[in-house]
Amino acid sequence: MPSSQTLETFDLAERYLRLMRLALTRSLPGSNYAEILPNSKTVSKALRHAAYSAVQRALRPFRLSIVQTNRSSGETMMGMGALDNLHSAMHQVIASQVPGDFVETGVWRGGGTIYMRAFLEAHQIPGRQVWVCDSFEGLPNPKDEYQTMPSAPIDQIAVLRLDGDMYESTIVVLEHLYPKVSPGGIVIIDDHGMLPECNRAVEDYRSKYAISEPLRIIGYVSDNPLGAYWCKD
Ligand SMILES: C[S@@+](CC[C@H](N)C(=O)[O-])C[C@H]1O[C@@H](n2cnc3c(N)ncnc32)[C@H](O)[C@@H]1O
Repeated sequence: MPSSQTLETFDLAERYLRLMRLALTRSLPGSNYAEILPNSKTVSKALRHAAYSAVQRALRPFRLSIVQTNRSSGETMMGMGALDNLHSAMHQVIASQVPGDFVETGVWRGGGTIYMRAFLEAHQIPGRQVWVCDSFEGLPNPKDEYQTMPSAPIDQIAVLRLDGDMYESTIVVLEHLYPKVSPGGIVIIDDHGMLPECNRAVEDYRSKYAISEPLRIIGYVSDNPLGAYWCKD
């Protein structure tokens, strides 16, 4: 807890942030509240999940994957597990006084960065920026030149969240922004486990620079790891 905050305002901030996570994932009850599915649909959903997992496993040796966009209606594609992980990462760097800004590369509708901003506001943390990096027109051609990342005017990073879906979008960000991550800073790779090309980019970068800090899995979907992070020593 930042020293200037009382327990009461800290608790209020945390309750507001919990509400924010529900709103950004459109998980709040409302007029669009999902019906409870009858059993027959639940069974067919389970079968669909089993088939999906089997296909993912079969594709993995070929470094291919089916991408499932299961949050097309929220302000973020993140589920609650990924948002909770982002929340913990921000708490950790603030508690350890790790200097630097919060950055997300690949933001889609911006829900992740809205959450970063909300966190800073709710806990009244001054002096940190939130950087929002995207083409704002969808995935570029992997063969396009990546001009803008080397010139991004970002000096120091405490939390770096990568969610660019492609080998190029991941490796270019690591090459240019990882050196700016402060010791104690946290690097989150949203696509790790889901997209083999993203795994390859992370493995290439970590082995090139002999990064040995353990890569920790954020969660699992149908037994498949989804998302990972490490803390820079
Ligand atoms: C999976 S979405 C990001 C989801 C987002 N983090 C969230 O929480 O909802 C991937 C985003 O990456 C962006 N992107 C991927 N590669 C890019 C690149 N090389 N340059 C700019 N934007 C890129 C796309 O435009 C898209 O918005």
